[in-house]
Amino acid sequence: MKPGIFISFEGIDGAGKSSHVQAVADAFERAQRQVVLTREPGGTPLAEKLRDMVLHDSMDALSEVLLMFAARRDHLQQVIEPALDRGDVVVCDRFTDATFAYQGAGRGFDFAVLSQLEQWVQGFPSGGLRQPDLTLWFSLDPSIAAERLSNARVPDRFEAQPAAFFAKVHQGYLDRLHAEPARFARIDAANNMEQVRNQVMRVLHERFKVRAPR
Ligand code: TYD
Repeated sequence: MKPGIFISFEGIDGAGKSSHVQAVADAFERAQRQVVLTREPGGTPLAEKLRDMVLHDSMDALSEVLLMFAARRDHLQQVIEPALDRGDVVVCDRFTDATFAYQGAGRGFDFAVLSQLEQWVQGFPSGGLRQPDLTLWFSLDPSIAAERLSNARVPDRFEAQPAAFFAKVHQGYLDRLHAEPARFARIDAANNMEQVRNQVMRVLHERFKVRAPR
């Protein structure tokens, strides 16, 4: 059995990452891998309920953080860990880097508390943390992302934030990349859809030897 692979997608709202999630899943399926396509917050019935609350109900930053990690805990236990144990490929739209970027850098929440929660939620009894094998960070100037978002649907609690918030979130992702450069691939999301897709596929080929679906 091949070992499981865990891939996360990250970026500020409006960076366009979600348009490429399916293409990554298709590339692995073409390579005869079982793929679990999922998202955070969400991915289980409980975590989807928590998602609905955290995206739409007003609350303080601590409640937001606790709900994000509660959703993540359930998602890991019910979906991600069993899939990786089976040797599947987990393609996840956002994971813990989003908490460090949005709640930590964006809201100004204490990073030490985030690290403690990360340890409780993602820590292995034998040490170490569950983290993605690869994080595709769709990096985009926050002002371009805001322009893209302005044409979008009714904004949720995060999408409704001002440009200054997204500038901080963007910086939060950059700091995560600098802390763990081997895990991250930075995708230039200012390019057009096809160029972005080609860049994503190049990364997948380099790391996992899979190719784009025709
Ligand atoms: P997103 O995944 O971008 O979904 P959609 O494209 O449907 O809006 O939206 C989820 C929002 O939740 C996004 O604004 C980022 C935010 N978020 C956090 O603030 N912290 C987290 O830990 C996660 C996973 C998401």
